Amino acid sequence: MRRKWVIGNWKMNGSTRDVLDWALRAGQLAASEACTVGVAPAAIHVTMALGAADKSLLVGAQDCAAVTNGARTGEISAEMLVEAGCHFVLVGHSERRQYWHETDALVARKFKRAQEAGVTPVLCIGETRDERERGVTEDVLRRQVAAVIELCGIEAFAAAAIAYEPVWAIGTGLTATPEQAQAVHAFIRGELFKDAAMLAGSLRILYGGSVKGNNAAELFAQADIDGGLIGGASLVPDEFATICRAAAR
Ligand code: 13P
Repeated sequence: MRRKWVIGNWKMNGSTRDVLDWALRAGQLAASEACTVGVAPAAIHVTMALGAADKSLLVGAQDCAAVTNGARTGEISAEMLVEAGCHFVLVGHSERRQYWHETDALVARKFKRAQEAGVTPVLCIGETRDERERGVTEDVLRRQVAAVIELCGIEAFAAAAIAYEPVWAIGTGLTATPEQAQAVHAFIRGELFKDAAMLAGSLRILYGGSVKGNNAAELFAQADIDGGLIGGASLVPDEFATICRAAAR
């Protein structure tokens, strides 16, 4: 069985004091619950979170550069993340795709850099509301995953995870129903990874998009949902704890 992962994506939130508090609480959950707990603070808070939390908490970054160290003002390389102690890095979050116009090809390069440097990429994929309404969800996901397979090979996913986050469900309170999410997760595992059956069986596919304490258990009960990538609810320690407990069942 795939042990579930619950990752809090704190996005651009939190003061120093918040981060210490949230990391401490998340660390307690990581140490006590039968699921893997991770958090992705803003890059400037990564070291602080690592210092404050139990060592069983995974701490990751929200993004990395697509190139190695050098003249890229404002960027943070995958090597720097590794040196800081990051366990994973999100690549291709829909907010990066939307506001920074990150393309599938750029996201694939970030995925590759992360693996070369030695930090686990969590590839975020998902369709917009318009794409779902036009019935092209599967095409979009296929394209987003194919870009990484083309550059890195399908076997690269043996050391990575996927987060399916329908864009229309992020921060909107509109969660995909457990059935909708399960159908997409089954498509990703069964169809996009059909050429690598062993790998497909162990691949972690997290769901993200308005996961809360009151809907997590139903989502996590689905056969192909291996945990969650949590935005807003990860900023409320009691809510995040409820979600982690749902994953540990
Ligand atoms: P919400 O949980 O706030 O919808 O955000 C999901 C998300 O984007 C996690 O990466």
